[in-house]
Amino acid sequence: MKIGFASDHAGIELKLALMEHLAAQGHTCTDFGNYDPDDRNDDYPVYGRKAAEAVMRGEVDRGVIICGTGVGISLAANKVPGIRAVVCSEPYSAKMARAHNNANMLALGARVIGRELAKMIADVFFTTEFEGGRHARRVEMIMEIESDYRNASID
Ligand code: RB5
Repeated sequence: MKIGFASDHAGIELKLALMEHLAAQGHTCTDFGNYDPDDRNDDYPVYGRKAAEAVMRGEVDRGVIICGTGVGISLAANKVPGIRAVVCSEPYSAKMARAHNNANMLALGARVIGRELAKMIADVFFTTEFEGGRHARRVEMIMEIESDYRNASID
C-alpha cells in the first residue's frame, strides 16, 4: 500500500519510526513533511493538509498524520474533501475506524502514546478491511454532509 506521512515538529521522531516500521512490511512510505524539528517554523495545518490532499488525489492510498495530540492535525486533514481522519490512542478504535467508518487517515498524538503502542495501532489500522454493508450506508451519510455544504454559504 502507498502511505503518506506528515507531522509537525512534535511528531517527527514518531513519524520516522513508523515509516521505517511500515516500510519493513512492504508499504511504500512518502513523507510530506515537516522535516525540521524547530517549532517556530511549522504549523500542523500545513502538514495535515499536504498529506490529506495526497490521499484525496489518490497519490497515496492512506495517510498517517502526527502532532502532539493528533487532534489539531486531524481537524485540518478532515477539512479536505473525501478525508476521514481519526485520532486513535489504542488499537480497538483503530480497528473499528477501518471496519465500520472506512477511515482513510490515522492521526496519532506523539505526546500521548509511546512508540510501541503507535506501531500496534498502525498495524491494526493497515490490516483491517472495511466491512461495508450497513456501515457503507452510514459512511455515505457522513460524506453527504460534506457534499451538502460544499457550495453553501454560512451566515
Ligand atoms: C504544538 O505544540 C501542538 O499544539 C501540536 O503539536 C498539536 O498537539 C496540536 O493539536
